[in-house]
Amino acid sequence: ELSDDERLFDELIANEQRIEPRDWMPDAYRKTLIRQISQHAHSEIIGMQPEGNWITRAPSLKRKAILMAKVQDEAGHGLYLYSAAQTLGITRDEMMDQLISGKAKYSSIFNYPTPTWADMGAIGWLVDGAAICNQVPLCRASYGPYGRAMVRVCKEESFHQRQGFEILLSLMQGTDEQKQMAQDAVNRWYWPSLAMFGPPDDQSPNSAQSMKWKIKRFTNDELRQRFVGMLVPQAEILGVTLPDPDLRFDDETGQYVIGEIDWDEFFEVLRGNGPCNAERLERRRTAHEEGAWVREAAAEYARKQALKTKA
Ligand code: ACO
Repeated sequence: ELSDDERLFDELIANEQRIEPRDWMPDAYRKTLIRQISQHAHSEIIGMQPEGNWITRAPSLKRKAILMAKVQDEAGHGLYLYSAAQTLGITRDEMMDQLISGKAKYSSIFNYPTPTWADMGAIGWLVDGAAICNQVPLCRASYGPYGRAMVRVCKEESFHQRQGFEILLSLMQGTDEQKQMAQDAVNRWYWPSLAMFGPPDDQSPNSAQSMKWKIKRFTNDELRQRFVGMLVPQAEILGVTLPDPDLRFDDETGQYVIGEIDWDEFFEVLRGNGPCNAERLERRRTAHEEGAWVREAAAEYARKQALKTKA
């Protein structure tokens, strides 16, 4: 026998209406949202590092200004998402503790290095491209604050994706060395960006329930497919080769057939053993410690302002 609360919740979901912070919701729904939204927020914050690495070395003042704005956008997305998670009853401090203690997950993709300027292009084109594929459907997520946050985030992501494409396009119109640099970066980021969509559907423990709750609208494999379909014509325009000799269009299914993804590598990265996991966490920890005085000053300022308004 369902309670009135449960019935109302099921009805809202069935009718494509939104669940808002003060509505009743099942504990498991709340938990899964806290999990996904906080991981998403952490990804944005850790995701600032691979590109932050190139701000001081961008090849022109204009490129530097664009890259700085992009990295700042990511900080904004992170804060936006932390706020959305807070509406579910977890505090910012708890989430930060989970991140810097190494307990929280964040996207696998940000544990790869960025050795050349072309990696800025490949991240924008591939990583932000994958993020858009994954996040546009999340604009319709059943939880109101998450869905609404995604609308704005996606607008900024599509700008990020174009700036990455444009970096690669410029390099591909340059010298042989520049072309090679662009191709090498695409080779580095292509497979990790496919893995970013998460494990294959038969190894994705959360998908089925998240689809029922209309948090996720498509499975990991469905979104990966969509992404490859989007990349192929863009790779042609760029003149880069997608590094998958088995990639082919299947006329019967109307879908691309993708080569084997290295899932062992993916799960190793999730276990903390990717090329940059330790470095990324260490940097975040240091930044958090070095920012302690800012948080203290802000809290003290808020305390004094509150006293003033009382007086
Ligand atoms: N990196 C790290 N962990 C991952 C990744 C990944 N690329 N993909 C899946 N996982 C984790 C899941 O978090 C889950 O772990 P948990 O149960 O301990 O939380 C486990 O692997 C199994 O995966 P799924 O059952 O498929 O998990 P889920 O249904 O949550 O789907 C997905 C994973 C697709 C990433 C989903 O959480 C999602 O859409 N999140 C929002 C988007 C996001 O976080 N993007 C971050 C990168 S984009 C950017 O920041 C620019």
